[in-house]
Amino acid sequence: MSESPTKRLMPPDIRARKGGEPIVSLALYTAPMARLAAPYCDFLLVGDSVGMVLYGMDSTLGVTLDMMIQHGKAVKRGAPDACVVVDLPFGSYEGSPEQAYASASRVMAETGAQGVKLEGGAVMAPTIAFLSKRGIPVMAHVGLLPQSVNTAGGFRAHGRDLQEASQIHEDALAVADAGAFAMVVEGVVEDLARRITKEAPIPTIGIGASPACDGQVLVCDDAIGMFSNFKPRFVKRFAELAPTVQQAIEAYSNEVRARSFPAMEHCFGVKKSG
Ligand code: KIV
Repeated sequence: MSESPTKRLMPPDIRARKGGEPIVSLALYTAPMARLAAPYCDFLLVGDSVGMVLYGMDSTLGVTLDMMIQHGKAVKRGAPDACVVVDLPFGSYEGSPEQAYASASRVMAETGAQGVKLEGGAVMAPTIAFLSKRGIPVMAHVGLLPQSVNTAGGFRAHGRDLQEASQIHEDALAVADAGAFAMVVEGVVEDLARRITKEAPIPTIGIGASPACDGQVLVCDDAIGMFSNFKPRFVKRFAELAPTVQQAIEAYSNEVRARSFPAMEHCFGVKKSG
């Protein structure tokens, strides 16, 4: 096991990793998982994927700012020394830079996170500039934007046609220019992610993007195999925990039904035998 990040990185340290050692991140939502993952990650992302992964929603649209703040606090409690970035959820920032500032400043003050992430390209550039100039480090997110699943027509790879590819390319350069310290590049064709990584002056954090990206993020539950059903192409399972969890629960259930658990050794006020 190679635990590496020993001191907390700050957003400028992440920014300075452009073109250097790959940046490692996982999206996770709870204190125990943060504690386990922090020694191996450069930053932890409290993603609004929490809505789908933990709450069983079919998109991220129902996630609220209060939910993100509670999960941000939990992750910070689990990994107080980690660099933590919290997603701004749908509806909490798109209205105006002022609305984004009100939401982002609550996230920063109430969770102790080091930055926020928001979805959108050129259209969000003025907001990214507004926040960055007011002390809020912003990670951008371009390509497949889960919060725009309804206008995008579903979760699909982006940048296959020339017009869409050139819009995403323009988005990536615009968010970098606006002051984002890094950007997630999600669900885009490989050569586009490679080109963006080459041309943008800030790190690209890929998910369903390209090995050429400056870093990588996955949803932690995907990486450790907590779902036994659907596996998107861009996910690699580094463990298959769902069957192990299910076997453990089955064993527990069998023992309770057979009255073999709890045994006397699990009871208070009973002398240990032998
Ligand atoms: O919400 C999330 O977990 C994310 C990552 C998948 C990039 O935005």
